[in-house]
Amino acid sequence: RIAAHLNPPNFELRREECRAKGGAPGFKVAILGAAGGIGQSLALLMKMNPLVSVLHLYDVVNSPGVTADISHMDTTAVVRGFLGQPQLEAALTGMDLVVIPAGVPRKPGMTRDDLFNINAGIVRTLCEGVAKCCPNVVVNLISNPVNSTVPIAAEVFKKAGTYNPKRLLGVTALDVTRANTFVGEVLGLDPKTVDVPVVGGHAGVTILPLLSQVKPPCSFTPEETEYLTKRIQDGGTEVVQAKAGAGSATLSMAYAAAKFADACLRGLKGDAGVVECAFVASEVTELPFFASKVRLGRAGAEEVYQLGPLNEYERIGLEKAKKELAESIQKGTNFIKK
Ligand code: NAI
Repeated sequence: RIAAHLNPPNFELRREECRAKGGAPGFKVAILGAAGGIGQSLALLMKMNPLVSVLHLYDVVNSPGVTADISHMDTTAVVRGFLGQPQLEAALTGMDLVVIPAGVPRKPGMTRDDLFNINAGIVRTLCEGVAKCCPNVVVNLISNPVNSTVPIAAEVFKKAGTYNPKRLLGVTALDVTRANTFVGEVLGLDPKTVDVPVVGGHAGVTILPLLSQVKPPCSFTPEETEYLTKRIQDGGTEVVQAKAGAGSATLSMAYAAAKFADACLRGLKGDAGVVECAFVASEVTELPFFASKVRLGRAGAEEVYQLGPLNEYERIGLEKAKKELAESIQKGTNFIKK
Protein backbone atom coordinates (compact mmCIF):
# COMPACT_ATOMS: atom_id res chain seq x y z
CA ARG A 1 0.00 0.00 0.00
CA ILE A 2 1.08 3.53 -0.73
CA ALA A 3 1.73 5.74 2.34
CA ALA A 4 -1.47 6.08 4.36
CA HIS A 5 -1.61 9.86 4.04
CA LEU A 6 -2.32 9.48 0.33
CA ASN A 7 -5.53 7.58 1.05
CA PRO A 8 -7.19 8.99 4.19
CA PRO A 9 -10.00 6.56 5.09
CA ASN A 10 -12.76 9.15 5.57
CA PHE A 11 -11.94 10.55 2.15
CA GLU A 12 -12.66 7.20 0.54
CA LEU A 13 -15.86 6.84 2.54
CA ARG A 14 -17.05 10.20 1.29
CA ARG A 15 -16.33 9.23 -2.29
CA GLU A 16 -18.31 6.01 -1.85
CA GLU A 17 -21.27 7.98 -0.45
CA CYS A 18 -21.01 10.49 -3.25
CA ARG A 19 -21.05 7.74 -5.85
CA ALA A 20 -23.99 6.02 -4.19
CA LYS A 21 -26.01 9.26 -4.37
CA GLY A 22 -25.16 9.81 -8.01
CA GLY A 23 -25.95 6.21 -8.83
CA ALA A 24 -22.99 6.12 -11.20
CA PRO A 25 -21.86 2.58 -12.05
CA GLY A 26 -18.42 1.92 -10.70
CA PHE A 27 -16.26 -1.07 -11.39
CA LYS A 28 -13.12 -2.05 -9.55
CA VAL A 29 -10.25 -2.79 -11.90
CA ALA A 30 -6.75 -4.10 -11.14
CA ILE A 31 -3.79 -3.92 -13.50
CA LEU A 32 -1.03 -6.47 -12.75
CA GLY A 33 2.25 -5.30 -14.27
CA ALA A 34 1.07 -1.69 -14.01
CA ALA A 35 4.55 -0.13 -13.96
CA GLY A 36 5.55 -1.58 -17.34
CA GLY A 37 5.44 -0.15 -20.82
CA ILE A 38 1.87 -1.29 -21.42
CA GLY A 39 0.84 -1.05 -17.77
CA GLN A 40 1.59 2.67 -17.32
CA SER A 41 -0.28 3.85 -20.40
CA LEU A 42 -3.10 1.43 -19.65
CA ALA A 43 -3.33 2.80 -16.10
CA LEU A 44 -3.61 6.31 -17.56
CA LEU A 45 -6.40 5.27 -19.93
CA MET A 46 -8.31 3.29 -17.29
CA LYS A 47 -8.11 6.28 -14.92
CA MET A 48 -9.92 8.22 -17.66
CA ASN A 49 -12.70 5.62 -17.97
CA PRO A 50 -15.88 6.82 -16.25
CA LEU A 51 -16.98 3.21 -15.64
CA VAL A 52 -14.01 2.68 -13.28
CA SER A 53 -14.50 3.71 -9.64
CA VAL A 54 -11.42 2.04 -8.14
CA LEU A 55 -8.14 1.32 -9.92
CA HIS A 56 -5.53 -0.95 -8.29
CA LEU A 57 -2.02 -0.76 -9.74
CA TYR A 58 0.15 -3.77 -8.88
CA ASP A 59 3.74 -4.49 -9.91
CA VAL A 60 6.90 -5.98 -8.44
CA VAL A 61 8.72 -2.66 -9.06
CA ASN A 62 7.91 1.05 -9.29
CA SER A 63 4.16 0.88 -8.65
CA PRO A 64 4.25 3.56 -5.89
CA GLY A 65 5.58 6.15 -8.34
CA VAL A 66 3.14 5.28 -11.10
CA THR A 67 0.29 5.32 -8.57
CA ALA A 68 1.22 8.73 -7.14
CA ASP A 69 1.47 10.13 -10.65
CA ILE A 70 -1.80 8.69 -12.03
CA SER A 71 -3.70 9.52 -8.83
CA HIS A 72 -3.33 13.25 -9.48
CA MET A 73 -5.53 13.05 -12.58
CA ASP A 74 -8.85 14.77 -11.87
CA THR A 75 -11.07 11.89 -12.95
CA THR A 76 -13.42 9.79 -10.82
CA ALA A 77 -11.48 6.57 -10.18
CA VAL A 78 -9.69 6.21 -6.84
CA VAL A 79 -6.17 4.87 -7.46
CA ARG A 80 -4.28 2.61 -5.05
CA GLY A 81 -0.84 1.13 -5.51
CA PHE A 82 0.48 -2.29 -4.48
CA LEU A 83 4.11 -3.37 -4.55
CA GLY A 84 5.45 -6.92 -4.59
CA GLN A 85 4.07 -10.39 -3.92
CA PRO A 86 3.04 -9.74 -0.26
CA GLN A 87 0.57 -7.11 -1.52
CA LEU A 88 -0.90 -9.16 -4.37
CA GLU A 89 -3.88 -10.37 -2.33
CA ALA A 90 -4.81 -6.86 -1.25
CA ALA A 91 -4.50 -5.71 -4.87
CA LEU A 92 -6.92 -8.39 -6.07
CA THR A 93 -9.54 -8.56 -3.35
CA GLY A 94 -12.91 -7.15 -4.39
CA MET A 95 -12.05 -6.58 -8.05
CA ASP A 96 -14.50 -6.91 -10.96
CA LEU A 97 -11.92 -6.93 -13.76
CA VAL A 98 -8.22 -7.90 -13.65
CA VAL A 99 -6.03 -6.91 -16.60
CA ILE A 100 -2.64 -8.68 -16.79
CA PRO A 101 0.20 -7.15 -18.84
CA ALA A 102 2.92 -8.51 -16.49
CA GLY A 103 5.95 -10.19 -17.97
CA VAL A 104 8.86 -9.63 -20.32
CA PRO A 105 8.35 -8.30 -23.87
CA ARG A 106 10.13 -9.43 -27.06
CA LYS A 107 13.47 -8.17 -28.35
CA PRO A 108 14.40 -8.24 -32.06
CA GLY A 109 14.82 -11.80 -33.33
CA MET A 110 12.56 -13.29 -30.65
CA THR A 111 9.20 -14.95 -31.22
CA ARG A 112 6.44 -14.63 -28.66
CA ASP A 113 7.05 -18.26 -27.81
CA ASP A 114 10.61 -17.38 -26.71
CA LEU A 115 8.98 -15.53 -23.79
CA PHE A 116 7.31 -18.71 -22.52
CA ASN A 117 9.90 -19.73 -19.95
CA ILE A 118 9.70 -16.46 -18.01
CA ASN A 119 6.12 -15.39 -18.55
CA ALA A 120 4.50 -18.79 -17.91
CA GLY A 121 5.63 -18.70 -14.28
CA ILE A 122 4.57 -15.08 -13.81
CA VAL A 123 1.09 -15.79 -15.20
CA ARG A 124 0.77 -18.90 -13.01
CA THR A 125 1.59 -16.94 -9.83
CA LEU A 126 -0.76 -14.09 -10.66
CA CYS A 127 -3.62 -16.43 -11.61
CA GLU A 128 -3.17 -18.38 -8.36
CA GLY A 129 -3.75 -15.03 -6.65
CA VAL A 130 -6.85 -14.40 -8.75
CA ALA A 131 -8.25 -17.87 -7.92
CA LYS A 132 -7.74 -17.21 -4.22
CA CYS A 133 -8.84 -13.58 -3.89
CA CYS A 134 -11.33 -12.81 -6.68
CA PRO A 135 -12.42 -16.10 -8.29
CA ASN A 136 -15.42 -14.52 -10.06
CA VAL A 137 -13.50 -11.72 -11.70
CA VAL A 138 -13.22 -11.21 -15.48
CA VAL A 139 -9.58 -11.68 -16.52
CA ASN A 140 -8.06 -9.90 -19.54
CA LEU A 141 -4.75 -11.68 -20.21
CA ILE A 142 -2.21 -9.69 -22.26
CA SER A 143 1.09 -11.39 -21.28
CA ASN A 144 2.65 -13.30 -24.17
CA PRO A 145 2.59 -15.89 -25.59
CA VAL A 146 -1.20 -15.42 -25.25
CA ASN A 147 -1.75 -18.69 -27.17
CA SER A 148 -0.11 -20.48 -24.20
CA THR A 149 -0.75 -18.16 -21.25
CA VAL A 150 -4.54 -18.45 -21.58
CA PRO A 151 -4.37 -22.28 -21.36
CA ILE A 152 -2.01 -21.86 -18.37
CA ALA A 153 -4.52 -19.59 -16.63
CA ALA A 154 -7.33 -22.04 -17.38
CA GLU A 155 -5.38 -24.92 -15.82
CA VAL A 156 -4.52 -22.87 -12.73
CA PHE A 157 -8.21 -21.99 -12.28
CA LYS A 158 -9.28 -25.62 -12.88
CA LYS A 159 -6.81 -26.79 -10.22
CA ALA A 160 -8.26 -24.26 -7.79
CA GLY A 161 -11.83 -25.26 -8.71
CA THR A 162 -12.69 -21.73 -9.86
CA TYR A 163 -12.51 -22.05 -13.67
CA ASN A 164 -15.24 -20.21 -15.53
CA PRO A 165 -14.37 -20.21 -19.26
CA LYS A 166 -16.61 -17.19 -19.89
CA ARG A 167 -14.48 -15.07 -17.58
CA LEU A 168 -11.05 -15.75 -19.05
CA LEU A 169 -10.23 -13.70 -22.14
CA GLY A 170 -6.91 -13.54 -24.00
CA VAL A 171 -6.47 -10.04 -25.40
CA THR A 172 -6.09 -10.04 -29.20
CA ALA A 173 -7.55 -6.56 -29.57
CA LEU A 174 -4.30 -5.12 -30.92
CA ASP A 175 -4.51 -7.43 -33.93
CA VAL A 176 -7.97 -6.02 -34.67
CA THR A 177 -6.76 -2.45 -34.10
CA ARG A 178 -3.90 -3.00 -36.55
CA ALA A 179 -6.17 -4.73 -39.08
CA ASN A 180 -8.67 -1.85 -38.99
CA THR A 181 -5.82 0.67 -39.42
CA PHE A 182 -4.04 -1.09 -42.30
CA VAL A 183 -7.29 -1.93 -44.14
CA GLY A 184 -8.44 1.68 -43.65
CA GLU A 185 -5.18 2.86 -45.26
CA VAL A 186 -5.63 0.59 -48.30
CA LEU A 187 -9.29 1.53 -48.78
CA GLY A 188 -8.81 5.23 -48.00
CA LEU A 189 -11.31 5.00 -45.12
CA ASP A 190 -11.30 6.32 -41.57
CA PRO A 191 -10.15 3.22 -39.59
CA LYS A 192 -12.87 3.99 -37.02
CA THR A 193 -15.45 2.98 -39.63
CA VAL A 194 -13.66 -0.29 -40.53
CA ASP A 195 -14.40 -3.63 -38.86
CA VAL A 196 -12.04 -6.53 -39.58
CA PRO A 197 -12.66 -9.80 -37.73
CA VAL A 198 -9.31 -11.31 -36.70
CA VAL A 199 -9.54 -14.93 -35.55
CA GLY A 200 -7.24 -17.80 -34.53
CA GLY A 201 -4.66 -16.73 -31.99
CA HIS A 202 -2.06 -14.06 -31.22
CA ALA A 203 1.25 -15.01 -32.87
CA GLY A 204 2.45 -15.08 -36.48
CA VAL A 205 0.37 -17.32 -38.74
CA THR A 206 -2.16 -17.95 -35.96
CA ILE A 207 -3.31 -14.34 -36.46
CA LEU A 208 -5.92 -14.75 -39.20
CA PRO A 209 -7.65 -11.62 -40.49
CA LEU A 210 -10.89 -12.46 -42.32
CA LEU A 211 -10.63 -9.88 -45.09
CA SER A 212 -13.60 -11.41 -46.92
CA GLN A 213 -15.79 -10.29 -44.00
CA VAL A 214 -14.58 -6.70 -43.70
CA LYS A 215 -17.23 -4.08 -43.02
CA PRO A 216 -18.08 -1.94 -44.90
CA PRO A 217 -18.23 -4.66 -47.57
CA CYS A 218 -15.33 -4.38 -50.03
CA SER A 219 -13.03 -6.56 -52.09
CA PHE A 220 -9.25 -6.87 -52.27
CA THR A 221 -6.93 -7.97 -55.06
CA PRO A 222 -4.79 -11.07 -54.30
CA GLU A 223 -1.79 -8.72 -53.85
CA GLU A 224 -3.70 -6.55 -51.38
CA THR A 225 -4.88 -9.64 -49.48
CA GLU A 226 -1.32 -10.96 -49.24
CA TYR A 227 0.11 -7.58 -48.19
CA LEU A 228 -2.59 -6.95 -45.56
CA THR A 229 -2.52 -10.46 -44.10
CA LYS A 230 1.28 -10.43 -43.71
CA ARG A 231 1.35 -6.90 -42.32
CA ILE A 232 -1.32 -7.70 -39.73
CA GLN A 233 0.43 -10.96 -38.76
CA ASP A 234 3.83 -9.23 -38.50
CA GLY A 235 2.56 -5.99 -36.92
CA GLY A 236 4.11 -6.84 -33.56
CA THR A 237 7.47 -7.67 -35.14
CA GLU A 238 7.38 -4.39 -37.09
CA VAL A 239 7.25 -2.52 -33.77
CA VAL A 240 9.81 -4.77 -32.05
CA GLN A 241 12.29 -4.11 -34.88
CA ALA A 242 11.63 -0.36 -34.94
CA LYS A 243 12.17 -0.18 -31.16
CA ALA A 244 15.48 -2.01 -31.71
CA GLY A 245 15.75 -3.73 -28.35
CA ALA A 246 13.69 -1.28 -26.30
CA GLY A 247 10.66 -3.57 -26.13
CA SER A 248 7.51 -4.32 -28.09
CA ALA A 249 4.23 -2.50 -28.72
CA THR A 250 3.20 -0.62 -25.60
CA LEU A 251 1.26 2.50 -26.63
CA SER A 252 -0.97 0.95 -29.29
CA MET A 253 -1.32 -2.09 -27.01
CA ALA A 254 -2.43 0.02 -24.08
CA TYR A 255 -4.94 1.75 -26.36
CA ALA A 256 -6.28 -1.60 -27.62
CA ALA A 257 -6.33 -3.09 -24.10
CA ALA A 258 -8.17 -0.06 -22.72
CA LYS A 259 -10.80 -0.32 -25.47
CA PHE A 260 -11.17 -4.03 -24.79
CA ALA A 261 -11.40 -3.55 -21.01
CA ASP A 262 -14.03 -0.86 -21.58
CA ALA A 263 -16.02 -3.31 -23.73
CA CYS A 264 -15.81 -5.90 -20.91
CA LEU A 265 -17.05 -3.31 -18.40
CA ARG A 266 -19.92 -2.27 -20.67
CA GLY A 267 -20.83 -5.96 -20.90
CA LEU A 268 -20.68 -6.32 -17.12
CA LYS A 269 -22.92 -3.25 -16.82
CA GLY A 270 -25.51 -4.96 -19.00
CA ASP A 271 -25.11 -3.01 -22.26
CA ALA A 272 -26.48 -4.93 -25.24
CA GLY A 273 -24.60 -5.81 -28.43
CA VAL A 274 -21.01 -5.52 -27.14
CA VAL A 275 -18.98 -7.66 -29.55
CA GLU A 276 -15.16 -7.93 -29.68
CA CYS A 277 -12.61 -10.50 -30.83
CA ALA A 278 -10.85 -12.42 -28.04
CA PHE A 279 -8.93 -15.67 -27.47
CA VAL A 280 -11.32 -17.79 -25.41
CA ALA A 281 -12.42 -21.35 -24.64
CA SER A 282 -14.19 -22.28 -27.81
CA GLU A 283 -16.09 -24.93 -29.76
CA VAL A 284 -15.73 -23.04 -33.04
CA THR A 285 -12.96 -25.45 -34.15
CA GLU A 286 -11.67 -28.74 -32.71
CA LEU A 287 -9.18 -26.74 -30.59
CA PRO A 288 -10.04 -25.98 -26.94
CA PHE A 289 -9.16 -22.29 -27.35
CA PHE A 290 -9.59 -20.04 -30.35
CA ALA A 291 -9.93 -16.32 -31.03
CA SER A 292 -13.12 -15.15 -32.67
CA LYS A 293 -15.85 -12.61 -32.15
CA VAL A 294 -17.51 -12.92 -28.76
CA ARG A 295 -20.49 -11.15 -27.24
CA LEU A 296 -19.59 -9.61 -23.88
CA GLY A 297 -22.20 -9.48 -21.14
CA ARG A 298 -22.72 -9.72 -17.39
CA ALA A 299 -21.27 -13.25 -17.40
CA GLY A 300 -18.20 -12.33 -19.47
CA ALA A 301 -17.90 -13.89 -22.94
CA GLU A 302 -21.54 -14.96 -23.11
CA GLU A 303 -21.55 -16.08 -26.72
CA VAL A 304 -18.72 -17.20 -29.00
CA TYR A 305 -19.57 -16.61 -32.66
CA GLN A 306 -18.87 -19.02 -35.50
CA LEU A 307 -16.34 -17.97 -38.15
CA GLY A 308 -18.83 -17.48 -40.96
CA PRO A 309 -18.03 -18.23 -44.61
CA LEU A 310 -14.28 -18.26 -45.44
CA ASN A 311 -12.70 -17.95 -48.89
CA GLU A 312 -10.02 -20.32 -50.17
CA TYR A 313 -7.12 -18.10 -48.97
CA GLU A 314 -8.61 -17.98 -45.47
CA ARG A 315 -9.32 -21.72 -45.38
CA ILE A 316 -5.63 -22.43 -46.08
CA GLY A 317 -4.64 -19.84 -43.46
CA LEU A 318 -6.97 -21.45 -40.95
CA GLU A 319 -5.32 -24.86 -41.34
CA LYS A 320 -1.85 -23.32 -40.79
CA ALA A 321 -3.11 -21.36 -37.80
CA LYS A 322 -4.70 -24.41 -36.17
CA LYS A 323 -1.52 -26.48 -36.51
CA GLU A 324 0.62 -23.93 -34.66
CA LEU A 325 -2.13 -23.09 -32.17
CA ALA A 326 -2.58 -26.72 -31.17
CA GLU A 327 1.09 -26.92 -30.15
CA SER A 328 1.05 -23.63 -28.23
CA ILE A 329 -2.12 -24.59 -26.37
CA GLN A 330 -0.68 -27.99 -25.47
CA LYS A 331 2.55 -26.39 -24.25
CA GLY A 332 0.58 -24.10 -21.92
CA THR A 333 -1.63 -26.89 -20.61
CA ASN A 334 1.37 -29.17 -19.99
CA PHE A 335 3.17 -26.44 -18.05
CA ILE A 336 0.62 -26.81 -15.24
CA LYS A 337 -0.42 -30.42 -15.67
CA LYS A 338 3.07 -31.96 -15.79
P1 NAI B 1 7.51 -4.31 -19.67
O1 NAI B 1 8.73 -5.09 -19.37
O2 NAI B 1 7.64 -2.88 -20.05
O3 NAI B 1 6.52 -4.38 -18.43
C1 NAI B 1 6.20 -5.57 -17.79
C2 NAI B 1 5.95 -5.26 -16.32
O4 NAI B 1 5.59 -6.49 -15.70
C3 NAI B 1 7.16 -4.69 -15.59
O5 NAI B 1 6.84 -3.48 -14.93
C4 NAI B 1 7.53 -5.78 -14.61
O6 NAI B 1 8.05 -5.30 -13.40
C5 NAI B 1 6.17 -6.44 -14.41
N1 NAI B 1 6.27 -7.77 -13.83
C6 NAI B 1 7.20 -8.73 -14.04
N2 NAI B 1 6.97 -9.78 -13.25
C7 NAI B 1 5.86 -9.50 -12.55
C8 NAI B 1 5.09 -10.21 -11.57
N3 NAI B 1 5.44 -11.42 -11.16
N4 NAI B 1 4.01 -9.59 -11.07
C9 NAI B 1 3.64 -8.37 -11.49
N5 NAI B 1 4.31 -7.66 -12.39
C10 NAI B 1 5.39 -8.23 -12.92
O7 NAI B 1 6.70 -5.13 -20.80
P2 NAI B 1 5.48 -4.62 -21.71
O8 NAI B 1 6.02 -4.04 -22.95
O9 NAI B 1 4.57 -3.82 -20.87
O10 NAI B 1 4.81 -6.03 -22.11
C11 NAI B 1 4.18 -6.83 -21.13
C12 NAI B 1 3.68 -8.14 -21.74
O11 NAI B 1 2.67 -7.88 -22.72
C13 NAI B 1 4.77 -8.92 -22.48
O12 NAI B 1 4.61 -10.29 -22.18
C14 NAI B 1 4.44 -8.68 -23.94
O13 NAI B 1 4.91 -9.70 -24.77
C15 NAI B 1 2.93 -8.64 -23.89
N6 NAI B 1 2.29 -8.01 -25.03
C16 NAI B 1 1.09 -8.52 -25.43
C17 NAI B 1 0.42 -8.01 -26.51
C18 NAI B 1 -0.91 -8.57 -26.91
O14 NAI B 1 -1.42 -8.17 -27.97
N7 NAI B 1 -1.52 -9.43 -26.15
C19 NAI B 1 1.00 -6.90 -27.31
C20 NAI B 1 2.24 -6.39 -26.77
C21 NAI B 1 2.86 -6.95 -25.68
